[in-house]
Amino acid sequence: MEPVNLAEFEEVARGKLAREAYEYYAGGANDEVTLRANGEAYGKLALYHRVLRDVAVRETSVEVLGERISFPVMVAPTAFQRMACDEGECATARAAARAGTIMVMSTLATTVIEDVVAAAEGPKWFQLYIYKDRGVTLDLVRRAEAAGCRALVLTVDTAVWGQREADVRNSFTLPDGLTVANLATHAKEHFPEGMAGSGLAAYAAALLDASLTWKDLEWLRGQTKLPVLLKGVVHPDDARAAVEHGAAAVIVSNHGGRQLDSSPATIEALPGVVEAVAGKIPVLIDGGVRRGTDVVKAVALGAKAVLIGRPILWGLAVNGEEGAYRVLELLKAEFDLAMALCGARTVGEIGRDLVVG
Ligand code: FNR
Ligand code: LAC
Repeated sequence: MEPVNLAEFEEVARGKLAREAYEYYAGGANDEVTLRANGEAYGKLALYHRVLRDVAVRETSVEVLGERISFPVMVAPTAFQRMACDEGECATARAAARAGTIMVMSTLATTVIEDVVAAAEGPKWFQLYIYKDRGVTLDLVRRAEAAGCRALVLTVDTAVWGQREADVRNSFTLPDGLTVANLATHAKEHFPEGMAGSGLAAYAAALLDASLTWKDLEWLRGQTKLPVLLKGVVHPDDARAAVEHGAAAVIVSNHGGRQLDSSPATIEALPGVVEAVAGKIPVLIDGGVRRGTDVVKAVALGAKAVLIGRPILWGLAVNGEEGAYRVLELLKAEFDLAMALCGARTVGEIGRDLVVG
């Protein structure tokens, strides 16, 4: 059966993945209220489609921080992609390049930065976790720069690790042969051994810095010429602070419902953030985007583009690079269709009137 939508990709992927891997990918924190809310909130928004606007010729591309992408969807950073298929992050890089969009690579990849960048020519951004050891952190930044990554995405909603109960139950750890590859040069590529509960949570508690403040954003900006985006903002006051501290963009995100359970659905948080940044920097969003209409809704409410996390993992699990590419192409076709039925010929013509009637 060839999946015809992103939900069907998840169904097929679920049958192919080891249970611990599926549950790590799919799961959210605690009761998964936020995880569900991310998706359900899109379902509650209607699109007041416009008519008689000549949509015979359409253009879905858009520019994000100087990068032209083929439609307003990018690949969110997700860790440990080689659990989904052997080629892992390299398959994602090729799929994203073929689909004409940006791949954001995770610090916690199972493939080193250099190999992912070399796998395909498409634009790459690097997602950064700040380690307690700033030398280690700076080394990651230098490697991302040297490899040709064009932006850093600083994830800020993980001061401490969310309680993903499936991972606790499964004592989640990486399968034999897979490691936190980028950290091997610092002997930090393995989860701590012999601990009960989630090995990833133990890793994060041991090595990632829970003391981060706005000063650390300033520190990072002082270390690099690359634009630094902030990922994990939902509060308008934090969005304003991000502008003041020189963030190149904000990504409205609750980490796919994996961190604070009860964080708002991101599409509900988006308008407040858009209003707060007042056009000074672009606003991106992720969490629960599964349909072309979801992308239209996010753009209508002021997002420059959206990112998808889990659907790419489902694509990889179903059919490696081809699967991830197919996920992006399906979403692009759905987006183009939704745009046309809304009476928009370009992304710029997707106006706020579509969601408020
Ligand atoms: C993530 N996410 C994430 N974010 C990040 O900044 N660094 C990371 O390493 C990871 N790893 C990761 C692994 C897995 C399995 C998931 C599901 C998510 C969060 C990710 O970038 C994004 O915010 C959400 O996945 C978006 O929600 P959807 O599209 O998965 O609903
Ligand atoms: C996660 C990471 C790695 O959500 O950010 O599992």
